[in-house]
Amino acid sequence: MKKTTPHVTALITGTSGNLGLNIAKRLIAEVPQETRLTIIVTSRTLANANHTIALLSDYNATDVRRPAVLDFDYSLVDFTDMVSILAAAYELHNTHRCIDYVYLNAAQGVYAGIDWWGATVECCTNPIKGVTYPTYKIQRVGVKSADSLGLVFQANVFGPYYFIHKLLDYNLFELSADPRIVWISSVMSKPSYLSMDDLQLLKSHESYEGSKRLLDLLHLATYKSLYQRYRVKQYLTHPGILTSFSFFQFLNPVTYYGMLLLFYLARLLGSPWHNIHGWIAANAPVFVSLYADQRDDPQDLKYGSASRWNGKEYMKTEEVDPTGMDDVLSYFEKLTLEWDDKLKNQIVNTRTR
Ligand SMILES: NC(=O)c1ccc[n+]([C@@H]2O[C@H](COP(=O)([O-])OP(=O)(O)OC[C@H]3O[C@@H](n4cnc5c(N)ncnc54)[C@H](OP(=O)(O)O)[C@@H]3O)[C@@H](O)[C@H]2O)c1
Repeated sequence: MKKTTPHVTALITGTSGNLGLNIAKRLIAEVPQETRLTIIVTSRTLANANHTIALLSDYNATDVRRPAVLDFDYSLVDFTDMVSILAAAYELHNTHRCIDYVYLNAAQGVYAGIDWWGATVECCTNPIKGVTYPTYKIQRVGVKSADSLGLVFQANVFGPYYFIHKLLDYNLFELSADPRIVWISSVMSKPSYLSMDDLQLLKSHESYEGSKRLLDLLHLATYKSLYQRYRVKQYLTHPGILTSFSFFQFLNPVTYYGMLLLFYLARLLGSPWHNIHGWIAANAPVFVSLYADQRDDPQDLKYGSASRWNGKEYMKTEEVDPTGMDDVLSYFEKLTLEWDDKLKNQIVNTRTR
């Protein structure tokens, strides 16, 4: 009988960002070399998707040179647009038999700029705190998407959750030997960032951080049933702190290098979270997908990418306070049913009409 080559398919949302790109690079370097690897890049724009695929292809050609097939596909999806999410899932179901790993990495905030005076005071009085838990990024309040949902809520949590819900509906994990979903949270996801009266984060001045707390709770509330119903292992991770491509717009060369200097200083002074480089930041997401096993690596922990003063990577796990997870789950389940109903006539098979 002809032996079939093992095949792994990984989808990374927001692949064009620093972390997404490095998760993909690490997969190219670390997925067993005799395995065929398919990477599905997602972006809101075709230009970013093409650029990302070109970068990854060059990386393989110059640095890794996988002997087995490495192929790429892309999916254009905007998580602030429910029709786009549905269309992306539908298209994936038409073009792929199976997905093994999904990294829910795409995220956005609604930033209006930086309070430079506050930033100076915070970074001078307590530099490590100032560059680990900054409170000087100004976020707009009450921003809604065109779907009339809280924009950050939809982009970072409900949209990706609904995307997974559709991939499960289309049985895209069924043929995988060991399917895994990896949520990317943040070191900034304390319970105080989220009010149970404002789950769409419309009144919040910290909607980005609130969205990360929300996804921590959603993970705790869903990982067991995902495994029982679908055999899918879900993990919660965070990348520590890295240079973010999307934040460059608020910085000039002076403030960018100033920020970088403070990041290195924080690491030298003992901060475990200043990974700075996307490669180190991708350690935890790649670990939970390729190496973790359920017995030794419990799914109720949060896996953080950390580094020592000299940049040597390691992993740090934390427990997550589960208060509120049942309320969050019932809110998401109800909203999912509402959107299933709203979108039920969106996809029509024109060939049978
Ligand atoms: N940077 C940090 O220090 C840090 C710290 C803690 C946690 N994190 C988390 O780590 C992840 C990656 O961070 P990063 O710094 O690499 O981010 P980034 O450079 O800002 O990239 C995020 C990517 O998400 C995509 N995206 C944004 N809004 C989207 C939307 N509405 N729909 C679909 N895609 C969207 C964008 O891709 P396109 O523009 O191509 O669509 C973008 O490339 C995020 O979840 C972030 O919250 C980062």
